[in-house]
Amino acid sequence: MKRVAILISGGGSNMLALLDSMVGDHPARAVLVASNDPAAGGLAKAAARDVPVAAVDHRPFGKDRAAFEAELLRHIEAAEPDILCLAGFMRVLTPGFVSRFEGRMLNIHPSLLPKYPGLHTHQRALDAGDAEAGCTVHEVTAVLDDGPVLGQARVPVLSGDRPDTLAARVLVQEHRLYPAVLRRYAAGDRTPVLL
Ligand code: GAR
Repeated sequence: MKRVAILISGGGSNMLALLDSMVGDHPARAVLVASNDPAAGGLAKAAARDVPVAAVDHRPFGKDRAAFEAELLRHIEAAEPDILCLAGFMRVLTPGFVSRFEGRMLNIHPSLLPKYPGLHTHQRALDAGDAEAGCTVHEVTAVLDDGPVLGQARVPVLSGDRPDTLAARVLVQEHRLYPAVLRRYAAGDRTPVLL
């Protein structure tokens, strides 16, 4: 059974989709949900499902990312995860942190990478006049929103879409894609999931 730690920054709807998927014959179980924001709504939701939670507020660390990560790492290492899932985790990680989890850290990003790494993905897809949008789960490397693609889900862009309407349509697919990828990945299969 693979041990999974999940990092969040907000409401944690992707995290919940992952938790809800890790039941029965699933090859993994959640051992920790951690956030850089003690007020992240997802923490209480994970705790309500009896998953251990931790919060390390990044703000007192200022620009010292390495010191913040060292504190976060204490919690992560204590949980002894095999796989680390970023699920709406909005802090950039240092190469040192990334290399520590090389080959066992996943991220979900709300665009069809390599399009639109970074922020405001839905606005950028609309500005570009794209006919479709979507989300990507990838292995995390030292380059932001880069690394081998493990799955993608596509949705149409509809006329009259705004960033929020498009984001909502993509999020529905995120909740399907991430659990599907994690199940495969935890079983040792890195074949991309295409939805
Ligand atoms: C999701 O749409 C996720 O793809 C995005 O943040 C949202 C988190 O929602 N992640 C990023 O933008 C990463 N750069 P959630 O907290 O409800 O899962």
